[in-house]
Amino acid sequence: MTQETLLRQIIDYDNRADPYPLYAELRKTPVRQEGDELFVVSTYWEIKSLLHDPRISSDARNLSPGAAGTLLQEEEASPLPPSFLRLDPPEHDRLRRMTMRPFGPPETPRRIHNMRGELARIVTDLIDGFGDRKQVDIVDDFSYPFPVTVICRLLGVPREDEARFHTWADTIAAGLDPAPGQDAGEQHRVTQQARTELGMYLSGLIDERSGAPGDDMLSELVTQHGPDGQMTRAELLSTASLLLIAGHETTVNLITNGMLTLLRNPEVLGRLREDARLAVPLVEELLRFEPPVQLLPQRTTLADIDIAGTTIPEGASVWLVLASGNRDPQRFPDPDRFDPDRKDIQHLGFGSGIHNCFGAPLARLEAQLALTELTRRLDGPRLVEDPPPYRQNAVLRGPRHLNVAFDGLRS
Ligand code: HEM
Repeated sequence: MTQETLLRQIIDYDNRADPYPLYAELRKTPVRQEGDELFVVSTYWEIKSLLHDPRISSDARNLSPGAAGTLLQEEEASPLPPSFLRLDPPEHDRLRRMTMRPFGPPETPRRIHNMRGELARIVTDLIDGFGDRKQVDIVDDFSYPFPVTVICRLLGVPREDEARFHTWADTIAAGLDPAPGQDAGEQHRVTQQARTELGMYLSGLIDERSGAPGDDMLSELVTQHGPDGQMTRAELLSTASLLLIAGHETTVNLITNGMLTLLRNPEVLGRLREDARLAVPLVEELLRFEPPVQLLPQRTTLADIDIAGTTIPEGASVWLVLASGNRDPQRFPDPDRFDPDRKDIQHLGFGSGIHNCFGAPLARLEAQLALTELTRRLDGPRLVEDPPPYRQNAVLRGPRHLNVAFDGLRS
């Protein structure tokens, strides 16, 4: 198989349901050159080392025009400055520190812990909403609405505005996942419109919160005057949008992949039903086994880098295939087996290094609660089709629908 066909096959929708044999093929050459400027890295230690290498940039402005292509179209067209996901130090570090202050340790270590009761209520309400039905789509009826509601509560979006927020989030997420046959220009216009409306809405909320702050995260971001100064309005807007977008499709896919994997492994599902404590190692193993972010396609080298016998030249684009590193047999024994009892589970599902996932504590808790409750409450759940239909997106990979039949709801 030639290198070019292999990468094309990974992107090809026909292989979306099971790209793992292709990743195994890819790992035979840990750092593969693809065309003149693109290098694909697929083995665990090489990915890890590049994620910690200061000679690798995440700043989209360093990408060659060809590489930026479709992946970054949306962001390039955005009137907002790049979010810290797409910045390098020192700008990245300043904005990440400022966003971390109202979110996690050391300043606010209990923000996520304190949301536990509220998250559990949202989960219960969504499952109660299944009513008398004997079949649901886990994506549309559960995984999709859950993370957006959570981000609304985190940011402090008033309840009466949540429905509008859901619509914008759905439209923006759909823009990341173009459907075949859809008019690309029209889809782009619709997505931009949603981004503009969301920006205007958030701008209004920022005005409100600077006058009358609450105890939500947006209020704290707006009013903080710490050692890093204050965020500008543009920075506030791009950070709030980042929190929404980065935590949306990813969490949807983690929960959906989780249900799919549990239904394919009924013994593990039975164990989780008996013992909710299994949810913690199970979600970690899921992040290894079926990571929602399959690859990071937007890095650029700032200098020549020698790795695995190859020199990646300065200015090259680098794709880091996290999902392949997670199945690297040099790192994880028997990597294609889903095993929540694995002792050593330092997966790459949340990335690594300075950009490692900011929302990981929240994402973990959401998935743990969701999978525990779905497992506990659905009586006799079974997959209606396997494999389910997948989204187009090869990067944020996950089922578009997951129809599950069951005999009834337990209380
Ligand atoms: C299962 C759910 C999630 C997965 C798999 C995931 C995965 C990732 C990955 C792989 C990265 C690294 C990107 C890179 O290195 O370029 C990342 C970064 C990030 N994630 Fe998540 N994420 C999830 C949920 C969330 C949530 C819920 C939030 C927000 C509350 C969030 C906010 C962020 C932010 C802000 C960054 C950028 C960090 C930085 O650049 O310093 N994520 N995420």
